[in-house]
Amino acid sequence: MHSIMIVDSNDTELMAMQRAFEQSCSVVTMSNAKAALGRLNKTTVLPDLMIIDLEIVGIPAFEFMGRLKSNDKFKEISLVIISGDKDTATELEAYRLGASDFIHKPVNVTLLKKRVDLQLEVLGYKKQVHTHMTQLAQNASFHAQNSLRLEYFLIGIITDMISVKDGFTGMHSIAVSRYMGIILKDMMMSGINYGIAAEDFELILLSAQLHDMGKIGVPDSVLRKEGKYTDEEFIQMKNHTVYASNAIERYAYLLPNNKFIIYTYQMARYHHERFDGNGYPDGLAGQNIPFLARVLAVADVYDALISKRSYKQPITHEQAYNIISQGAGVQFDPQVVSAFQRAQADIFEASRQLQAQSLAMQAGQQDQSELHKSMELKSKQMNGDN
Ligand SMILES: [Fe+2]
Ligand SMILES: [Fe+2]
Repeated sequence: MHSIMIVDSNDTELMAMQRAFEQSCSVVTMSNAKAALGRLNKTTVLPDLMIIDLEIVGIPAFEFMGRLKSNDKFKEISLVIISGDKDTATELEAYRLGASDFIHKPVNVTLLKKRVDLQLEVLGYKKQVHTHMTQLAQNASFHAQNSLRLEYFLIGIITDMISVKDGFTGMHSIAVSRYMGIILKDMMMSGINYGIAAEDFELILLSAQLHDMGKIGVPDSVLRKEGKYTDEEFIQMKNHTVYASNAIERYAYLLPNNKFIIYTYQMARYHHERFDGNGYPDGLAGQNIPFLARVLAVADVYDALISKRSYKQPITHEQAYNIISQGAGVQFDPQVVSAFQRAQADIFEASRQLQAQSLAMQAGQQDQSELHKSMELKSKQMNGDN
């Protein structure tokens, strides 16, 4: 049942209108605008519609309307104005102030009821549309959350598969993504972004975790070999870039122009390209190598240098810093190396944290993976938390 408030200083009119509506609506009558405003301020159940006599006492009617329409709590209440004033300017002013309808006196109650019913019907439709829109927004948010979770699910599985295949590479994926984040942030803050939007930052770091996923296709005998590779083994190892990019190419049609897929492809295929053109698999040089792959290349080599592998011992941060600095313009993009040098203290700190994390994971104390953490962060962002 709709509720209406009738505000009129004339008792006879007030009673006649009350009688007309009390069968179908819950009706409150007020003979003074100031008192009506006081009541509205106190109540928690607001009327859907108000009938206001323009000659009301207490507060001038236009001021009363203005106060209602400028208040967030009352602005949705429909206002039907009744008035003995025949001047069109008055009527126009009432509409300007937010009236939904304007009825001239003498009021025919049957006609008034028809016009008010019409307004209430419109209100009903408005409510339905609002409910529908809210439902749609909730559904969209639910689907967005679900597809995001699916993305994290698949990345989690692939990262896990990589670590099963090669214990070194699993943690390596996370470390590279972390170092890349530090370098990329520095570059983006310096205005070097090659068109990468800041909002894609998180997505890029997730894609970066998959850069070595092609290693799943490399035989264990090669992946875990201690000592130098034969030429054939080296070819097999190099193929991890092609295995990954071919797999992505095969299924990319399912999500055309998807940024996550594009970034993952660029980093998985081109992270072993060299700035001087002597890298693999395509021998691209300089700016022809996709930007994100140029950034990842530095993070990738840094982690490989400071980490233990089946075939080598780790070297120190300082030694790795020097090797990467010497590689500027040869193996690496000089702009990326400069960013690496500027951010080296943060990178060193991150490497220490990752080392501690890795030790804790080995000891079984770490139950919340990097992926879980970023997943929760993303969910919070989607829910508007900070
Ligand atoms: Fe690689
Ligand atoms: Fe790598």
